[in-house]
Amino acid sequence: MRWLTLLSTLLASAVPFVHAVSSQAYTWKNVKIGGGGGFIPGIIFNPSQKGLAYARTDIGGAYKLNSDDTWTPLLDFADNARWNYWGVDALATDPVDPTRLYLATGMYTNSWDPNNGQILISTDQGQTFTPSVLPFKVGGNMPGRGMGERLAVDPNSNNILFFGARSGNGLWKSTDHGTTWAKVSSLPDVGTYEADPTDTTGYNNDKQGVAFVTFDSTSGSSGTATPRIFVGVGTNTGSNLFMSNDAGSTWSALPGTNSSWMPHKGVLSPAEHSLYISTSDGSGPYDGTLGALYKYNITSGTMANITPVSGGDLYFGFGGLAVDLQKPGTVMVAALNCWWPDGNAFRSTDGGQTWTRLWDWASYPTMNRFYTYDDSLAPWLGPDVTASGIVTQIGWMMEALAIDPFDSNHWLYGTGATIYGGHDLLKWDTTRNVTIKSLADGIEETAVQALLSPPTGPSLLSGLLDEEGFVHSNLNVAPSSEFATSTSTGITGLDYAGNSPATIVRVGNGDASDGKQIAISPDSGTTWNLDYGSPDGVSGGKVAISADGDIVLWSSSSNGVQVSQYTNAFTTVSTLPAGAAIASDKKVDSIFYAGSGSSFYLSTDGGKTFTATSKLGSSSSVSKVIVNPSVTGDVWVSTDTGLFHSTNNGTTFTAISGVTQAWSISLGAPATTGGYPAVFAIANIGSVGYFRSDDQGSTWVQINDAAHGFGSAGANVISGDPRIYGRVYVGTNGRGIFYGDTAGTTVTSSASASSSSHTTSSSSSSSSSSKTTSSMSTSSSHTTSTVSSTSSSPSTSSTGAAQGAYGQCGGNGWTGATTCVSGYSCVVQNAYYSQCVPS
Ligand SMILES: *[C@@H]1O[C@H](CO)[C@@H](O)[C@H](O)[C@H]1NC(C)=O
Ligand SMILES: *[C@@H]1O[C@H](CO)[C@@H](O)[C@H](O)[C@H]1NC(C)=O
Ligand SMILES: *[C@@H]1O[C@H](CO)[C@@H](O)[C@H](O)[C@H]1NC(C)=O
Ligand SMILES: *[C@@H]1O[C@H](CO)[C@@H](O)[C@H](O)[C@H]1NC(C)=O
Repeated sequence: MRWLTLLSTLLASAVPFVHAVSSQAYTWKNVKIGGGGGFIPGIIFNPSQKGLAYARTDIGGAYKLNSDDTWTPLLDFADNARWNYWGVDALATDPVDPTRLYLATGMYTNSWDPNNGQILISTDQGQTFTPSVLPFKVGGNMPGRGMGERLAVDPNSNNILFFGARSGNGLWKSTDHGTTWAKVSSLPDVGTYEADPTDTTGYNNDKQGVAFVTFDSTSGSSGTATPRIFVGVGTNTGSNLFMSNDAGSTWSALPGTNSSWMPHKGVLSPAEHSLYISTSDGSGPYDGTLGALYKYNITSGTMANITPVSGGDLYFGFGGLAVDLQKPGTVMVAALNCWWPDGNAFRSTDGGQTWTRLWDWASYPTMNRFYTYDDSLAPWLGPDVTASGIVTQIGWMMEALAIDPFDSNHWLYGTGATIYGGHDLLKWDTTRNVTIKSLADGIEETAVQALLSPPTGPSLLSGLLDEEGFVHSNLNVAPSSEFATSTSTGITGLDYAGNSPATIVRVGNGDASDGKQIAISPDSGTTWNLDYGSPDGVSGGKVAISADGDIVLWSSSSNGVQVSQYTNAFTTVSTLPAGAAIASDKKVDSIFYAGSGSSFYLSTDGGKTFTATSKLGSSSSVSKVIVNPSVTGDVWVSTDTGLFHSTNNGTTFTAISGVTQAWSISLGAPATTGGYPAVFAIANIGSVGYFRSDDQGSTWVQINDAAHGFGSAGANVISGDPRIYGRVYVGTNGRGIFYGDTAGTTVTSSASASSSSHTTSSSSSSSSSSKTTSSMSTSSSHTTSTVSSTSSSPSTSSTGAAQGAYGQCGGNGWTGATTCVSGYSCVVQNAYYSQCVPS
């Protein structure tokens, strides 16, 4: 039983009962993407129990490694009130009692996260946790989150833990297994580096804090506090490495390093009686152009610079660092960000005197690759091909690197997108040809922005930050590729045309250099054509496509609302506020709906003009507008004050009783053939949760449970399946996509499950609003390159001259040229319009 369940039971009687809600058991599984999809800042093996290892993520919780190389999530119970549990800034596995696990959690140290951080304490390897709330914030998704580990358990007296805080809060100590904490004021420096002091949000200008805590296990004896402790701090203006020889009472600076370079990792090699330290001139995870690897000889008290590369080869800092405990003197370090041409890692078997690397140049642009690449578990991961034709495979943001302490062949490293590793590491030293395999199976770390379950074709399409998005034709199999014709670093909006449901529009997140961000697929997402009517350098927001697929409406907060027909240039819709929630009717081509502030809007002229038709109670912000695909004018609107339903094009609305706030909403297959669609809502209906109504909102069943909290309610998306009754998809901000199916009958509860798990709904609403702005920072400037797979329609019979660049070359009723001038291909944009685009 998770502690949540216990707590809930205890609290149930104290929670006021607002509205009677039933619950129904659901089975929840991840939609398998299979490669992680986000930054893995830490991978930590337990030194005492064979095979025990954990990985931490910056926005999606922590995972435990299984013997078959898969991973099991540990923090799925985190609900809206505890969404910041998914930011794991540090992890410690107890070397004395391997059943004990500690996580330092919290998402941001600025206002984006209203809650303080906490140490999550487990005595059963992560099956259950008890929180110890800290008197300050913790930032699992802050700059420098790959430094570490900031949290450590004393290997001689495991009741003692140290935790290095951010924001100038310094070093903290617990002597009761993490239950209570006190500040260690004697540490001379608390880590004052700010990644960008000019930032005013509190994000990049937060003080970096303490980077790592490492005990020298050899300095003490079992049962008494370990005297020698090393601490690295995020400071680049003076000493940033400190040693205590009296269990943390007093500290002295370690000599001999370049203090311009900040320590990222400090790893003890007990048999060598040495501490290895990787450093970089940035705090990471994206930056770093110089750095060094040092080795501190504890016996002699001397520091050696053992940096594996020098001169022109050194244009990055160092992050991930590992020693082979079975083979003293074997050490590996990763280039934190060798952005070009590819990441790299270095290995020494003689304590850092000589090094070999994962690749080197044969003669430019040919690389000697001393590895074999295997992404069979997540084929979409790569390889990527850069503009100069170089294949990139190894990764970036390589802050996590670990060698299994019981198996010299087993290694893992984290990147901005996944975990790689293998089981033949010793080949590095013999045939020098290790296997680099994608080993993130079970880790689902994507930040989901849009889900679409269309009435025909694949079950699901997804739009994600950091990746483009996927067609999920089999929910249990990792997709082979991302959306093609990628010009985006994420997809934020998806919609389908009601009368032509294989026609799908997407909008991406990109910057000016990424070009067009609207694309249209004629075949349920298999192929995509860029919409040449969309302006360059404009990105993000939501899209809606008209019933016949010829009109695209696009709403973003930064660029207002724009509309385009037949992929002509987008024009501004001045009658709608920027960022308005939008929807297309699924039957009538000319009808669009919108909501903003307290108003509902209707357009009957194809989105050119909107008229405010009614007020939405006392709402001040609209989250979503959705439409019954079978009935024009039947719309639902979710707002900060509730859920509203209209059956007359928004002339009047009914407020749904008992719903006090609603975020993402969706319609799914009806309970009975021909019946009204099931309504799904992420909402506050007596408590914040995930709900389904089979009677247009008269009664609700809660469908999530104590084991599935899904994190921040306001950051998530929900999508009902129009073909399978009860089936629903939940897209999270950091834990990928879940799909749920009914697994039992509806239980009308008294005071049990439904109301219980939600004790802090007021704080949760404020947290979720700030949350969405910040999800950008997961990872990766994913420089996925583009294999252009624009599909050209073969035009065998040409009528007259070829069409010119960007001209029309097909579509219903088109009688002109169907071929294009040289260099251009005729591409179907929709049933009404094909266009000559560069081939
Ligand atoms: C120390 O680091 C700074 C900043 O990267 C660099 O300019 C300087 O040359 C380094 N000093 C030494 C002695 O390497
Ligand atoms: C550390 O220094 C001592 C004393 O100079 C030396 O004997 C020992 O070999 C050194 N250890 C390593 C790992 O270099
Ligand atoms: C490494 O091994 C793979 C698989 O056996 C092989 O295809 C590849 O050519 C080898 N590479 C090198 C550099 O030996
Ligand atoms: C909604 O608007 C459409 C288009 O003007 C119209 O055909 C339909 O009758 C309206 N529905 C209702 C219930 O007013």
